Amino acid sequence: EKGGHDYFMLKEIAEQPQAIADTLLGRLSERGEIVLDEVRLTDQDLRDVDKIFIVACGTSYHAGMVAKYAIEHWVRIPCEVELASEFRYRDPILDRSTLVVAISQSGESMDTLMALRHAKEQKARVLAICNTNGSTIPRESDAVLYTHGGPEIAVASTKAFLTQLVACYLIGLHLAQIRGVMYADEVAAVVEKLQQTPDSLRTLLGRMEEVRELARDLKTASTVLFIGRHVGYPVALEGALKLKELAYMHAEGFAAGELKHGPIALIDEGTPVVCVVPSPAGRGVMRDKVVSNIQEVRARGARTIVIAEEGDEDVRAFADHLIPVPATPTLLAPLMTTVPLQVLACEIAAARGHDVDQPRNLAKSVTVE
Ligand code: M6R
Repeated sequence: EKGGHDYFMLKEIAEQPQAIADTLLGRLSERGEIVLDEVRLTDQDLRDVDKIFIVACGTSYHAGMVAKYAIEHWVRIPCEVELASEFRYRDPILDRSTLVVAISQSGESMDTLMALRHAKEQKARVLAICNTNGSTIPRESDAVLYTHGGPEIAVASTKAFLTQLVACYLIGLHLAQIRGVMYADEVAAVVEKLQQTPDSLRTLLGRMEEVRELARDLKTASTVLFIGRHVGYPVALEGALKLKELAYMHAEGFAAGELKHGPIALIDEGTPVVCVVPSPAGRGVMRDKVVSNIQEVRARGARTIVIAEEGDEDVRAFADHLIPVPATPTLLAPLMTTVPLQVLACEIAAARGHDVDQPRNLAKSVTVE
């Protein structure tokens, strides 16, 4: 049942290229528009949206953080991401022209469900991104886009995360198109790049041996830090969350630019720092900034594990370990850069002798607040 893998998590990591392809399949109408699954929202409702809130927990929240970058860039309307457990207590300003996007693999997270109910009481429109057909969150939403990841058994979310990213990209592109901010051919160009990601990911998954070796090396570390900028920031948070939940190790993710505002004091001789480097194409400035952050931590003794686009040879000089990932447009890069971090956490946990699929104290769906 684990398809020849030692753990469900490894099986699910390996299934990611297919899960992305399945989530993309049949989503584009002949007019090039995104097809939602169950919709009680008209195109006019979506045109009237003037603000978006994304609510989710854990890994799904990290998908929401990535979505914010993509949606604001493509759609040009304000988009906030909020931990579902905090949303309703803060009395957010919501009305009929607010779109609340609830992201949940299980469709049963109580925190997300309560945030959704609060949004509906305030007359906001609710769109769910969910992996579980007919679960509570999509049932109570005005529209749903299902991620076709297939069942996720391991407690740690992997393929659900990547398919949530795909669903968020599709929603962003759909909104941009129906609101006339992007032309059909611009949308088609991004969709084409998305369609190439399963192949790129297969290539990447074929090169994980070094990450496994690294995991054996890092298993005794007392802390592992993760840094990233722009969409690399939520990837850093996701890498740290995986390590916490699976390996029971102290791990923390930071926005690379925040290091000098405090966390850099944590760096000691040999502290492992995983650095997610943006693509040198397009937004070179951002990449250069992360490279100088890497130099800063290295100068203070950090052992750097650098995830960078293949061909970006200049980073090699600052990397104790270099993990190259296939070239992908900046906003789509988390579909690549997250994967070595999943493998790293899984392998470190296994090397420490933990139950990878059933970490202590955790449940697959958290149905209490
Ligand atoms: O089913 P959901 O997407 O609503 O679950 C949200 C979180 O509980 C979940 O992502 C959790 O953080 C994972 N165990 C992370 O790997």
